[in-house]
Amino acid sequence: MPNVVVIGTQWGDEGKGKIIDIITPYFDFVVRFQGGNNAGHTVIIGKETFTLHLIPSGILHPGKELIIGNGVVIDPPALIAEMEGLRKRGIEVNPDNLHISKGAHVIFPYHKLSEKIREEGSIGRIGTTRRGIGPCYMDKAARVGVRMVDLLYPEVLERKLKRNLEEINLIFTKIYGGEPIEFSSLYENYLNYGKLLSPYIKDTYLLLNRALEQKKSILFEGAQGTLLDVDFGTYPYVTSSNASAGGACTGSGVGPIHIDSVVGIMKAYTTRVGEGPFPTEIKDELADRLRNAGPIGEYGRSTGRPRRCGWLDLVAVKKSIMVNGINKLILTRLDILGYVDKIKVCTHYLWKGKKIEFLSEEINLWKEAVPVYEEMESWEGDISRVKKFEELPIQAQKYVERIEKELGRKISLISVGPGREEVIQREPIF
Ligand code: IMP
Repeated sequence: MPNVVVIGTQWGDEGKGKIIDIITPYFDFVVRFQGGNNAGHTVIIGKETFTLHLIPSGILHPGKELIIGNGVVIDPPALIAEMEGLRKRGIEVNPDNLHISKGAHVIFPYHKLSEKIREEGSIGRIGTTRRGIGPCYMDKAARVGVRMVDLLYPEVLERKLKRNLEEINLIFTKIYGGEPIEFSSLYENYLNYGKLLSPYIKDTYLLLNRALEQKKSILFEGAQGTLLDVDFGTYPYVTSSNASAGGACTGSGVGPIHIDSVVGIMKAYTTRVGEGPFPTEIKDELADRLRNAGPIGEYGRSTGRPRRCGWLDLVAVKKSIMVNGINKLILTRLDILGYVDKIKVCTHYLWKGKKIEFLSEEINLWKEAVPVYEEMESWEGDISRVKKFEELPIQAQKYVERIEKELGRKISLISVGPGREEVIQREPIF
């Protein structure tokens, strides 16, 4: 089996969790390589719904090995709660099937507090999930971060935490007039988390490379989406990690030569949570209709926030295909477009009188560009049981074919409902 990266081509919430769940049986390892518990991957199995935040969705398949890679940022109590929650539902979580990188960085309460202060300030609100993700990655880049391995060495944890608190408390008390964070209880708590998690904390890059030597296959599970990538997204309205395919290598310790395929997940329309430009956003009641259509509404899995909804933006997806090197495309939530009367798809923008087919980094372009749409017919009736492309309503087939023509590639798989079985396979993904 090849080694495959699955990533979102939009602003996250494309339905990656379900696709990962469907293809996991083909792999030996599933790896999360970036982000943290800002993610919420939903998998529906029969009548049960699972939402995974930090643990790879592959955990729902017995016999798979799951890795939380060095590129991930970990909130230990949130991870422990997720592990316990899964165990209570009969899912096996043990040091033989879950491996946490020694190099993953640790989120502390002070990260969440700094983020809260920044988000509630008068400028620069990003609309983050407030999970401390950005400040934790800031510490990593500033070389003052605490890594999972540090939780196993009391004297290292003590030294790093004391040093960080000295600086942070100065900022909290002198600039914001707040209370200082107390060292000892924080230290004790995190030392305890370290003890609890110690059997899981490993050199995961070694595990993965040894697995490759034994011809085992790896699935890299992206979180968020390319347009939230810190380099290629709508900066500064992005997350703080590389959600694009390149992150799979730096966030796991597997060299690019081992990646055989990059699968891009594209929702049949667009959503985004938080602030930032969104050229094809729908601003009237139609957005509510899309948001509430189908069995699962468009509300953030981690924060419950309503997602902004809009039409499919092919200009944005083209950039994603390019920067990720996507060779397979999967379309999700096609069924939802059966709930609207007419469908629009954005093929290009107009900006300063010019036709724009590829995005440029100017943030003003995002804000000022006028999307140019093609209007298409919708269809009536439930398509969630359809198994063959030819059995879809002709309007749905035309919509898919129009997207394929514009993107110059075939869509391999179409998801027509939230359940594991609700897919139309048009060609092999691998
Ligand atoms: P952060 O990742 O919490 O720092 O948030 C930065 C931006 O990314 C905000 O607009 C969030 O709403 C967005 N974001 C973070 N994680 C997700 C996700 O899993 N799905 C969709 N948007 C996300």
